[in-house]
Amino acid sequence: MTAELAIDVSGLTKIYGGRAVVEGIDLQVPRGKIYGFVGANGSGKTTTIRMLCGLIKPDRGGGTCLGHDLLTESATIKAHLGYMTQKFSYWDDLSIRENLAFVADIFGLDRAKERVDTALERLGLTARAEQLVGTLSGGWRQRLALSAATLHEPEMLLLDEPTSGVDPKSRLEFWDEIHHLAADGITVLVSTHYMDETARCHEIIFMSEGHIITSGTAANVVAHAGLMTWAVTGGDLVALMEKLKPLSGVDTVAAFGDNLHVSGTDGAALENAIAPYKAEKIHQWREIPPTMEDVFIHYMAKTKGDG
Ligand SMILES: Nc1ncnc2c1ncn2[C@@H]1O[C@H](COP(=O)(O)OP(=O)(O)OP(=O)(O)O)[C@@H](O)[C@H]1O
Ligand SMILES: [Mg+2]
Repeated sequence: MTAELAIDVSGLTKIYGGRAVVEGIDLQVPRGKIYGFVGANGSGKTTTIRMLCGLIKPDRGGGTCLGHDLLTESATIKAHLGYMTQKFSYWDDLSIRENLAFVADIFGLDRAKERVDTALERLGLTARAEQLVGTLSGGWRQRLALSAATLHEPEMLLLDEPTSGVDPKSRLEFWDEIHHLAADGITVLVSTHYMDETARCHEIIFMSEGHIITSGTAANVVAHAGLMTWAVTGGDLVALMEKLKPLSGVDTVAAFGDNLHVSGTDGAALENAIAPYKAEKIHQWREIPPTMEDVFIHYMAKTKGDG
């Protein structure tokens, strides 16, 4: 029952309308780890996460999730999953306690009252249990949704862009809770468009056009991209940006506040390209360690199109 690996799959492929929207996914995820899926819109994150857990059937490939076969035991797998989508549902005109009790009821859970009490305590909402959910802030609602998704004590959590539109403080608290759950042995698959959140995952899966293009810890993914990045300040940066963009050796130019980040994978070519502009002494040039954001922009520029 307790397989070492929460996920062990190879060659997972999904075809829609004759087109492979996700292709050849090989992945092993140890239990109790947080794996973050990043990539442009349409790159295949949701499709991949759903295939990994047997929620949709792959057209090719296979493997196991929580020790059960993806193709033949998906019903068993589903019973051990907690799933929270961006548009999670709750009932505005029911209290916090009633919402959780309702979920417990729907799933036919035993020890319902005990589970709800524990969830309320964990949420820090015991004192406000009778408050209507419609009056909660976005951050609290999202934590409530997480509680609802974990009420049946799943072994794995799927979180599809769980922090979209949530303020930074609430996101921070949400991620602390995710780490608590992982420490309890729950495996977490999460997709996000927030690059700062990649640092909070144990490993990142970087997707582009239905393929995993790179994976590993956030630090490894950044290092593996092999980018050289220069930060530029001063002068007319918008004009400079347009001059730099077409140069060979310059892969991407992106504006960050009063900084321009100029990146390339061929360090020598990049230095050649920018040398005349450095010599002008109009701007201040500083080589910096590339950020995850720079790496993301770099991979996106390489794919073009809508992903
Ligand atoms: N049920 C479906 N039928 C047909 N095409 C689909 C279906 N689901 C997804 N697709 C297509 O598969 C591709 C990958 O979609 P997916 O939703 O997995 O991407 P994503 O990375 O989750 O994107 P986003 O960041 O916008 O959530 C897209 O081109 C999408 O249009
Ligand atoms: Mg998606």
